[in-house]
Amino acid sequence: MLVAVLPASPKTAQETIRALLAADQLTSPVGVRAIYRDLSKAPRAFRAHAGFHAVAGDVGDATTLDLGGVDTVFAITPPRHDGSDMMQWATVASENTRVAIQRAGSVKRLVLLSSMGAEHASGTGEIRTNHIAEEILKDVVPEVIFMRCAYFMENWAAAIQTVQSEQPHFDSSITPLDYEIPMVAVTDIGKACATYLMAMDIPKHPYIVEVQGPQKYTVKDVCEAFEEAAGHAVEIRPVEKANLATFFGQFLPEASVGPFVEMTVSFLPGGFLANNAGNASSRDRVYQGRTGLVEAIGRMYRSG
Ligand SMILES: NC(=O)c1ccc[n+]([C@@H]2O[C@H](COP(=O)([O-])OP(=O)(O)OC[C@H]3O[C@@H](n4cnc5c(N)ncnc54)[C@H](OP(=O)(O)O)[C@@H]3O)[C@@H](O)[C@H]2O)c1
Repeated sequence: MLVAVLPASPKTAQETIRALLAADQLTSPVGVRAIYRDLSKAPRAFRAHAGFHAVAGDVGDATTLDLGGVDTVFAITPPRHDGSDMMQWATVASENTRVAIQRAGSVKRLVLLSSMGAEHASGTGEIRTNHIAEEILKDVVPEVIFMRCAYFMENWAAAIQTVQSEQPHFDSSITPLDYEIPMVAVTDIGKACATYLMAMDIPKHPYIVEVQGPQKYTVKDVCEAFEEAAGHAVEIRPVEKANLATFFGQFLPEASVGPFVEMTVSFLPGGFLANNAGNASSRDRVYQGRTGLVEAIGRMYRSG
């Protein structure tokens, strides 16, 4: 079995490769063709594995993507925050992936990293990049699986710096602070994606898997996890809905601010996604990861 990971740099790709290479010891040989636009990004630990091959390729240029001989593709729509239109980028990246798969002619299964809420064509901000990818790739090969992930626990990595500052605190764009949302650790996303890349039979296509953690969490839970990791008290500084544009504008280019505000508002109480949450008809399966928030934040804190 030869799996191509396109692109291989994102953290979800790395965790999926890790899970595939670990599973290789348990099952028949799994080869991984990892596609990097910068080959020096391929981790040494992966290179040491006989089944791992890093090759050059840029999702932004279909002519550089070689999927010849590959039977299964794991695709991600890489986020791009360089001031360009992220919806146009999602279209270009997904069409390039589609062209490369069709040109290869050998691919039977596509597993696409996506997001909860990707079934909606509007009202979801940044999540619409995942909707675009799903629409372009939904019938590219006979077997298509969408991995619709919950909010990544690793999004909180941005808080480590201020938690470690003289006045330990972090900003929260999620309010109110006791509002529960599904969150998942990227290690569990990797395990979930590897499971579906290697699964024998899938009953229907596209097959939709929601990837969640062991339970829902609040921002207060996030704060407690940081306090446990840091060993001291941490203050939460809530960002009110009306101030979200200013908040995101501090670290995102102007073109990304609108989609991030709309996405955030959509999953807060009363928002479009919050009102449509738990719609069981929009998924075939829920994959529930085992990594809790304390473990995920502790791991990030120690390595960050
Ligand atoms: N964050 C969440 O809560 C959440 C929830 C659900 C779904 N998602 C989805 O998850 C995906 C993000 O996954 P992630 O967090 O694993 O990403 P990430 O770690 O932020 O990945 C960014 C990487 O993408 C690579 N990249 C950017 N442009 C590229 C290009 N043209 N060609 C090849 N590689 C390129 C870059 O690698 P190099 O610079 O090394 O090339 C960069 O390191 C998005 O589709 C997002 O919508 C996110």
